[in-house]
Amino acid sequence: MRSFVVEPVSRPLSGRSEVPGDKSIGHRSLLFAALCDGEVEVGGLSGGQDNARTRAAMEAMGVRVVDRGPGRVTITGVGVDGLAAARGAIDCGNSGTSMRLLCGLLGGQRFDSRLFGDESLTRRPMRRVTEPLRSMGAVIDGVSRAERPGEVYPPLVVRAARGPLVGIDVELAVASAQVKSAILLAGLYADGPVRVREPGPSRDHTERMLAELGAPIAVAGDGSVTLDPVGWDRHLTARSLEVPGDPSSAAFLVAAALLAGARGVTIARVCLNRTRTGFLDALDEMGAGVRRAVATAGPGEPIGDLLIDAPGGGAALRATSVGGSLVVRAIDEIPILSVLAARADGTTTIADAGELRVKESDRVATTSAMLRAFGVEVEELPDGLIIRGQPGGRLRAAHIDSHGDHRIAMSATIAALVADGPSRIEDIDNVATSYPGFARALNQLAGGQVVTQVG
Ligand code: S3P
Repeated sequence: MRSFVVEPVSRPLSGRSEVPGDKSIGHRSLLFAALCDGEVEVGGLSGGQDNARTRAAMEAMGVRVVDRGPGRVTITGVGVDGLAAARGAIDCGNSGTSMRLLCGLLGGQRFDSRLFGDESLTRRPMRRVTEPLRSMGAVIDGVSRAERPGEVYPPLVVRAARGPLVGIDVELAVASAQVKSAILLAGLYADGPVRVREPGPSRDHTERMLAELGAPIAVAGDGSVTLDPVGWDRHLTARSLEVPGDPSSAAFLVAAALLAGARGVTIARVCLNRTRTGFLDALDEMGAGVRRAVATAGPGEPIGDLLIDAPGGGAALRATSVGGSLVVRAIDEIPILSVLAARADGTTTIADAGELRVKESDRVATTSAMLRAFGVEVEELPDGLIIRGQPGGRLRAAHIDSHGDHRIAMSATIAALVADGPSRIEDIDNVATSYPGFARALNQLAGGQVVTQVG
């Protein structure tokens, strides 16, 4: 297992950085292009391991994917009804999105499939997808565990559908783009409409992209999404799809700039979809002054640059309260937001974030353990955190176990930039699931080697 050794920075960050392609949009591009008629060029892919799992799954089901250069592939789509059984079980690695989206796609196929993942994914709950899909007629079996009776865990076996699935109208208990997307994908193979309602607005990349490709999908004024395949010609088409930069990856560089100080830092070409900007909105509340220069806001995804000038030391940050739909829009950024809260003036409360407990690690527990190791006063709530901010001074250098969670590893790396000595972040291999090149990007902005990979 590899580690990062992180030296504290002594001068402000500067320069321009382009983050890798958005992980969520990357999964959808690979998966939906495979269902199109004929060739689709996909650009801007991150090269991250999670997207690679989705790509390999589609290849295993008979889809040709040819590399055209960094982040660029040509996918020969097989059509909505053209997938073939994979020869072996499909390895989803660390990727919950791959497993959950594939579940929806596979539930309506006329062949059996098996899905498995790494140790972390094997502990993640799947009933949230298996239950609605079963009520559509899909036959999916998983593993049960004594500690949570009734829950379903990987590996999963998705049986061949005997006929079309049936439509449903569901209200999700928890807002989840993965669950919503799984149901909508299954809807492509149903004989009636599927409608999904959520308690808050989860990321809407599936709706946007499926609509662009010609799927019979519509979003109502109340935010509910309906896919009605009745009378549809069953064709999806696109020439090319371009994946914008990942706002979840950008969040780490933004936080680094705010903590270490920044002179003219630009994070370019970031997806600024409103369902993903909860972190930036929370920063506005904290008075961080990160500017957004929106470049394109067409029918695809809004994209723009983030511009940061900051005194550093968290000097300008105020504590805030985060809860409700803002948490949904910042769900993957809560660990790094917590690091910023540790340097803000006052006490920050994060609530309504129980979902963090079932991410790549229990992020309520792993974020609070990480902050505590850096000397931060933090209290764990069942569904969130209370963080007592201390602006000024330095954090205590620490030795952190990331528990194999990419976002904990990167959050700890950023905290370590403002520690009082070198820190060591263990178990960082999974940073490559979402942000290959993370250490390089930080070193570039820092103008010297602050993060070194060892082991
Ligand atoms: C994702 C949705 C979110 C997010 C995950 C990616 C997606 O999960 O945490 O990193 O691509 O749909 P939930 O839908 O479970 O909230």
